[in-house]
Amino acid sequence: MKDFAGRIAVVTGGASGVGRGLVEALLDAGARVVVADIEEPALDASVRELEARGEVSGVVTDVTSFEACDALARHVFDAYGACHLLFSNAGVAAGSGRFWLSTPRDWEWVHAVNVRGTAHVIQAFVPRMIASGEEGRVVITSSGDGGITPLPFAGVYAASNAARSAMAEMLANQLLNDGTRLRASVFYPSGGMLRTGLNEAERNRPPELERERPRESPPLSWGELERRWKAEGRDVQFQDLYELAQQVLEGIRQDRFVLGFDVERMGEQMMERARAIGRGELPRVEMDLM
Ligand SMILES: NC(=O)c1ccc[n+]([C@@H]2O[C@H](COP(=O)([O-])OP(=O)(O)OC[C@H]3O[C@@H](n4cnc5c(N)ncnc54)[C@H](O)[C@@H]3O)[C@@H](O)[C@H]2O)c1
Repeated sequence: MKDFAGRIAVVTGGASGVGRGLVEALLDAGARVVVADIEEPALDASVRELEARGEVSGVVTDVTSFEACDALARHVFDAYGACHLLFSNAGVAAGSGRFWLSTPRDWEWVHAVNVRGTAHVIQAFVPRMIASGEEGRVVITSSGDGGITPLPFAGVYAASNAARSAMAEMLANQLLNDGTRLRASVFYPSGGMLRTGLNEAERNRPPELERERPRESPPLSWGELERRWKAEGRDVQFQDLYELAQQVLEGIRQDRFVLGFDVERMGEQMMERARAIGRGELPRVEMDLM
């Protein structure tokens, strides 16, 4: 797909951060965008702020519910008869900590959103997208943390991203093998630190999945993190989220499977890991808890 003008795009988790950047870039490229997000006030505010930029609407959606994703897909196909660009991007993290100190509800919540949520979005949209006969692209947001290398301080989140990357690769192959007009990509948000709402993901954690006990290391706000880095004399680069989204759209135009910045570096990291595994060794990652 080279041209996004007039195309129908759906972005889950589009009310904030990486997803919000995608919505902005898609609107600027002329796509008509449906933003699906669980956080109604942020969703309403985003749609209001972006209305002047193009055709955008919001649908409150909890991706942990297949019925909600199916209702979203029904709405999109009733309203537009197509979906050309599907971004399964909603995601949460349960913060850092040792694997053995994570709790059953950490796993339940993060995997309900990141893993099963992605499955629900695919199950609801892809059959309809194939049936429409139109060309299209499914983009699954994953993370280098787990998608490339599992970082030792964020086991629950890393495991969910290993799953999301596997889902993207498997889906992309199936769509090609079946001769459909759909393609799939994996998106690794990258290019530097990303100032998004992920550190405060717990704002959307349902009360019934509240953590059983306090976390080993509570989440730090961006302000606190930056103060800490400054005190340590670290010069941390932030990636502009709109520029990141434009990189994603450019990758789609070029029919690439892996989307984002630093793709080559991620490949090298993975090669190193693969080589250790091939020697029967542990791919070592030495890192303090954040
Ligand atoms: N921020 C990073 O450093 C980073 C790095 C790599 C990957 N990612 C991935 O990027 C994606 C976007 O995260 P972000 O960093 O922009 O965080 P964010 O918190 O700014 O955005 C996530 C969005 O998902 C929504 N959401 C949460 N639970 C939901 C649910 N059940 N149903 C529907 N929407 C839900 C939130 O309301 C929010 O708008 C996530 O999948 C995340 O794992 C982020």
